[in-house]
Amino acid sequence: MTVKIWVIGAYGIVSTTATVGGKALEKGLISKTGLVSELPFFDGIERYAPLNFDFGGHDVRPMENMYAATLDNWEQNRHFEWHILERVKDYLESVKAAKGTALNCGSGVKELGRIETLEQEGLTLREIAERIVDDMKKFADSETVVINTASTEPMPRYSGEYHGCIDGFERMLDEDKKEYAMASMLYAYAALKLGLPYGNFTPSAGSNIPALKQLAIENKVPHAGNDGKTGETLIKTTLAPMFLYRNLEVIGWMGYNILGDLDGKVLSHRDNKESKVVSKDKVLEKVLGYSPYSITEINFFPSLVDNKTAFDFIHFKGFLGTKMKFYFIWDGIDAIVAAPLVLDIARFLLFAKKKGVHGVVKELGFFFKSPMETDIVNTHQQFEILKEWFSKLV
Ligand SMILES: NC(=O)c1ccc[n+]([C@@H]2O[C@H](COP(=O)([O-])OP(=O)(O)OC[C@H]3O[C@@H](n4cnc5c(N)ncnc54)[C@H](O)[C@@H]3O)[C@@H](O)[C@H]2O)c1
Repeated sequence: MTVKIWVIGAYGIVSTTATVGGKALEKGLISKTGLVSELPFFDGIERYAPLNFDFGGHDVRPMENMYAATLDNWEQNRHFEWHILERVKDYLESVKAAKGTALNCGSGVKELGRIETLEQEGLTLREIAERIVDDMKKFADSETVVINTASTEPMPRYSGEYHGCIDGFERMLDEDKKEYAMASMLYAYAALKLGLPYGNFTPSAGSNIPALKQLAIENKVPHAGNDGKTGETLIKTTLAPMFLYRNLEVIGWMGYNILGDLDGKVLSHRDNKESKVVSKDKVLEKVLGYSPYSITEINFFPSLVDNKTAFDFIHFKGFLGTKMKFYFIWDGIDAIVAAPLVLDIARFLLFAKKKGVHGVVKELGFFFKSPMETDIVNTHQQFEILKEWFSKLV
């Protein structure tokens, strides 16, 4: 049995690192550190989703193959040991991404350099969707999961008519209403249409519209998202509960993030950044039950490449109204914290499908900054929910 992961944004650093990691795990070259699904609480998952992987995907940058993309990312970041890459090189050379769509992906797309997309071929929306379905179909079997790790899109132009129900969505495709279709929605539509579980690692809309939620229920497919919780937000939602439990009042929380590389470049565009800031910003109110003064900033800092740094400053009030301060700095390698989660999310979604779970899997909220259909963002609570869900089903 092999877990087959179709990655949207296959040539990006999160995807290529997940691919290297997945194949290295399979060959026993690396330890399981970083994989949540390998904790003892989740014993038994290997019967449904073993540590054997196969990868495919879509991208819009024309590159020779997954090895060329991985090498490009590696040369800039050197984020793992070279010998690991050497050992999986043959496999990476055998994977080539299919041409995707960048419909309404915003001004940040300019940063990707030369891109090749399905819309450049003059296809209608329906034809684009069909091509994506066909690409996934060629790769997919009953063990396949689709994960979106493409560059962050701007906020969509929502339409009740076209996004409100699946008939409306189909009409949008037939009427070629390109202005309402985000690339991420088309990929999610294709996955759910084919009955493939879908995980959204990005803040982009993806399956998070009523039409696609309906499709997931009708086709009995599990899906989860949005936006992997890997760095500053992970700490924020782990630490903020401490203030709550000790009845300390958070007066203000400033989070300032700087990062380089392609993700940072795309996020330096105001339209693309907006969805990310919204995704990071909402969590405090959800944990604390009130809204402290907050600043959330993300800026591009080229020399850091994938070494994302976050500075957080928390002003809080204690007994007798006395004000105190707490600061932290998170200095993470973005792809290294993200990649194992891609494998975890794929494994849990496949497990969910095999257990007959469908629709939004809220219990996977632990992995996301803006979990769909739940306000629980407290990491401690989310972890308990995940464990309980798994132990009841396994
Ligand atoms: N810790 C983390 O790295 C982390 C955490 C949470 C979310 N994310 C999100 O994951 C995504 C990937 O991050 P990354 O660092 O790998 O970025 P990246 O820029 O290295 O990779 C993105 C890839 O997506 C491709 N792409 C862009 N638009 C596409 C489209 N419409 N269709 C198909 N492919 C497309 C690009 O060509 C590129 O290969 C981003 O949206 C990021 O915000 C990352």
